[in-house]
Amino acid sequence: MAAVVVAVASASAVAAAGGVDGAPGVGDPFFPDAGNGGYEVDRYHLDISYSPGSANLVGHERLRATATEGLDRFDLDLRGLNPDRVKVNGEPATFSRSGQELIITPAAILPANSPFTVQVDYAGTPQTITDPDGSPDGWIRTDDGAWVASEPQGSPSWFAANDHPSDKAEFFLHATVPAGLKAIGNGRLVKVVRHHGLRTFEWSEPVPMATYLATATIGRFNVTRSHLDGLRSLVAVDPQVQGFGKTLAKIPQIVRFFSTRFGPYPFKDVGAIADPSPAAYSLEVQTRPLFPGAVGEITLAHELAHQWFGDSVSLKTWPDIWLNEGFATFAQWLWGQHTGGESLKHDFRHSYATPASDSGFWDPPPGDPGTPANLFDGTIYDRGAMTLEALREKIGSHDFYVTLRAWAHDHRWGNATTAQFIHTAETASGKDLAHFFHVWLQRPGKPAPGSW
Ligand code: ARG
Ligand code: ZN
Repeated sequence: MAAVVVAVASASAVAAAGGVDGAPGVGDPFFPDAGNGGYEVDRYHLDISYSPGSANLVGHERLRATATEGLDRFDLDLRGLNPDRVKVNGEPATFSRSGQELIITPAAILPANSPFTVQVDYAGTPQTITDPDGSPDGWIRTDDGAWVASEPQGSPSWFAANDHPSDKAEFFLHATVPAGLKAIGNGRLVKVVRHHGLRTFEWSEPVPMATYLATATIGRFNVTRSHLDGLRSLVAVDPQVQGFGKTLAKIPQIVRFFSTRFGPYPFKDVGAIADPSPAAYSLEVQTRPLFPGAVGEITLAHELAHQWFGDSVSLKTWPDIWLNEGFATFAQWLWGQHTGGESLKHDFRHSYATPASDSGFWDPPPGDPGTPANLFDGTIYDRGAMTLEALREKIGSHDFYVTLRAWAHDHRWGNATTAQFIHTAETASGKDLAHFFHVWLQRPGKPAPGSW
């Protein structure tokens, strides 16, 4: 936000004009237009109706935000879809579109540090976003509804968002679909309202969530609800997905085991969604990971580990993505070791045996992916996980798990950076780890033996 102020001519000019134009992005190095400056969203209320036959979506959105400076104009991110009407603090506001920006001019200037509300009524056929790596993202049509996974930039394909993980907010979703279908969201299923051949599913996730972790996955589902220690569990599986039950039954063991290593599970709700999708990946949707079919136990463990690393402790900027993927991959190794598979040491040595000439394996270094097309490159996952195992071997298991638990605890429900992680590890171990992390995270090529 500071960058926004600097971009304005002078402080006195701001005061004279009464407000500034909120910046079109939060300044992320990979997605300069993602998110918006000048305010922070506290809460989204999304009310959507979707007809799978026509693929038409009608949305009524209400969000509550706080201005971080005096604003006479601000943006939300919205891709495709047509806004019919925008109100700010209950008064009609004028609006225009430019690329992914929905530019809103309220009737009156919004004073700094004051809360305000925005209502956006919109409709249209949501368009799937194609990511820089070629994957589909956002609202993805399926034969019976939609598979909704929005990392890194798909949320604006179905609602107007301050679309950046640094602005986490509470989410309330009302999703109306034809009877016979279900809409699965995040958090708690508050109620299902039946009316004229339609069903409205009301969901509530009061723990702040990054926009890309929101879902409204629609289709035919068998839903199983249960209790897992003090948590509510809700698992939704499309009847076409066969043979996933035995793996899903491991959720309690995986969550309990990770709680012993990473500290308490960070949310009140847990579960999973399995729904056939044209997308080939899974996503760590907050409280309820989303799978394109019956994945293996290791992938289930990976997405559940993200609840701590990515969902509860979230990125401040996208280039820090190894904080999500390296950690979830390390957790995968940990689950493998716990269940009688190879040890962490073995997994590290097996990966480390990859020859230096295999630059596709070693580059880019996980702390510096270079371009957004590399966000989900294998190296972010594998060399990211190796970084953590190398750290464990350097500082010892005790200080290593103290580090992971401090990280999950100190930044719970918030945002953090790689520099902060290094600080956490240095504090826990009493060692200077600048060189170690430079070699593993920043230096291109295979770290030479003995170089860290
Ligand atoms: N975070 C997901 C995972 O756990 C991957 C998301 C991939 N998304 C994409 N657009 N390529 O592995
Ligand atoms: Zn992942």
